[in-house]
Amino acid sequence: MSELASWRTASASAAATRALAERLATFARPGDRIALLGDLGAGKTQFAKGFARGLGVTGVVNSPSFTLMAEYRGRLPLFHLDLYRLAGTADALAGGLLDERQLDGVSLIEWADRLDGPVGSADLEVRIEGGGDDTRTIRLVARTAAGLRYVEGIRDVERVA
Ligand SMILES: Nc1ncnc2c1ncn2[C@@H]1O[C@H](COP(=O)(O)OP(=O)(O)O)[C@@H](O)[C@H]1O
Ligand SMILES: [Mg+2]
Repeated sequence: MSELASWRTASASAAATRALAERLATFARPGDRIALLGDLGAGKTQFAKGFARGLGVTGVVNSPSFTLMAEYRGRLPLFHLDLYRLAGTADALAGGLLDERQLDGVSLIEWADRLDGPVGSADLEVRIEGGGDDTRTIRLVARTAAGLRYVEGIRDVERVA
């Protein structure tokens, strides 16, 4: 799919990654789908925690690896998916991971790149590079008009910051 716009930043800590995600959550609208991409330990779940906080979710967000999809209540419903375990058996399991209710909320999809098709499809990609204690490079890629809302929104915020 085409790349409408992108934006990149550096994050020196897990807290900084969470803070970025929290700011991005202010641009969220119902139906948005966000792919969280990067190696194991890159910070995808840290990002999800910050995004949840930005939506006003009060519960603890952890990796949903064992449930495949977790749902939280905030300003909008938040659906947190992890497709890590789906490689190979994707299609059979995919049915339950694409739910009508996602249209009313925001879906954060860790390892979205493991699946082709609608389950892994996203408006915005969050590409996190780096691991361990290294500073991360975080790149946002807008794939749709909805994704563009985040890229343009964060550009505006960072310009005045
Ligand atoms: N800049 C950073 N951004 C995100 N996480 C970081 C950063 N620096 C160190 N970390 C650490 O890296 C780990 C990321 O774990 P996690 O978010 O579960 O990764 P993933 O979900 O991508 O597998 C955490 O232990 C976190 O504290
Ligand atoms: Mg994770």
